[in-house]
Amino acid sequence: MLIKTPKSWALKECDTTPEAVFKQRRHFLKTGAAALAGGLAGGLIGHHAFAAWPKAGEMLANIQKSGFDPGEATTPLKEVSSYNNFYEFGTGKDEPMSQAKDFKTDPWTVEIAGACAKPGRYDFEDLVSPHQLEERIYRHRCVETWSMVVPWVGVPLADVIKRLEPTSKARYVAFETLHDPARMPGQNRAVLQWPYVEGLRMDEALNPLTLLTVGLYGQALPPQNGAPLRLVVPWKYGFKGIKSIVKITFTEDQPPTSWNRSAPHEYGFYANVNPEVSHPRWSQAKERRIGEFFKQDTLPFNGYGEEVEDLYTSMDLHKYF
Ligand code: MTE
Repeated sequence: MLIKTPKSWALKECDTTPEAVFKQRRHFLKTGAAALAGGLAGGLIGHHAFAAWPKAGEMLANIQKSGFDPGEATTPLKEVSSYNNFYEFGTGKDEPMSQAKDFKTDPWTVEIAGACAKPGRYDFEDLVSPHQLEERIYRHRCVETWSMVVPWVGVPLADVIKRLEPTSKARYVAFETLHDPARMPGQNRAVLQWPYVEGLRMDEALNPLTLLTVGLYGQALPPQNGAPLRLVVPWKYGFKGIKSIVKITFTEDQPPTSWNRSAPHEYGFYANVNPEVSHPRWSQAKERRIGEFFKQDTLPFNGYGEEVEDLYTSMDLHKYF
C-alpha cells in the first residue's frame, strides 16, 4: 500500500490548478463517484483511487505550447526513443528500448526529503498534476558529442519546488533514480555505482529552463527515455538529465553525482555545455545531430547563455566544469 502524507496542495487543487488542467484531470475519471466514495470510505485519499495517468506512449492532455523553441528541425521520435543512454537497461544505445520495454511505472512514488517543509512520499502525478503541462523544444547535447532537438513535455521544476517549501538550508537539490536490479537488469553490473544520482544548485533548479519532464512528442515518456519522471536541463550535458526519479532531497552540501563519482577528472558537477573545455579524451567543440551527416559547432551553454550565464558570473568555468 502507498504511504500517503498530507498534501496541502492536493487538497487545494481546485484553487491552484488552471481550469483547463483541472477539467482535464476530471476527464480521466475512470470509475466515477462510486470509486471515489469507496476510496474515501477505505481511507484512501490517493490519486490512484480515481484517476489514471496516461501509460508510456499514450497521449498527454492539455499541453500548452511554450515559447521555448530553437526553430531547428526536431529529431524524429523514432531516433529519440531508440538511441538512448540508460545504463540501468544496458550500455548499448539500442539496449534501453528493448530491455526497458516491460518496465512498470505505475504506481510510482517520489520521496521528498531534506530541508523542506513538505517532506513525504508522493504519487508522482500529485507532484506534477497541479501544474500546467508545457511543451518545450530544447536542444539535447550529450557529452559524447551527439545531439538532438526534442519536444519535451513537463512542468517547470521551480513550480514543484516552491510547493515543497524548501528552507533556507536548502542550497542544492539531489535526485535519485530507482534502485531495483530485478526491474533494472543493468544494475546487476557495476558499470556505475547504483542508484544513479544527480544534483543541481538551488538557483539552477529554480531556473525557468529546468524542466521536470513527463513526456515527449505529446506522449507520456517511453521507459527508455526515463518514464515516468525525469529531469531535463538544456544548458547542461545530457547526463544531468537523470531518469526515472524516485527521490528528491534538499541538501545543504553539494550532493554526489554518478558520472563525477565514476570519473571525477572527466565529468564535473556543473557539466555546463562548453565548447572551450574539452573532455580529457575528446574535444567538445563540435557535435553531430542525430540523423545529420556534417558536424556543427557546439554553442556555449548549448545556446541558452542568455538565460543562464548570470548563474555563473563569478565562477571559473574551466575549474568548475
Ligand atoms: N539517468 C539514469 N538513471 N541512468 C543513465 O544511464 N544516462 C544519462 C541521462 N540520464 C542516464 C540517465 C545520459 S549520459 C544521457 S546523455 C541522457 O540521460 C540521455 O537521455 P535520452 O536517452 O533520453 O536521450
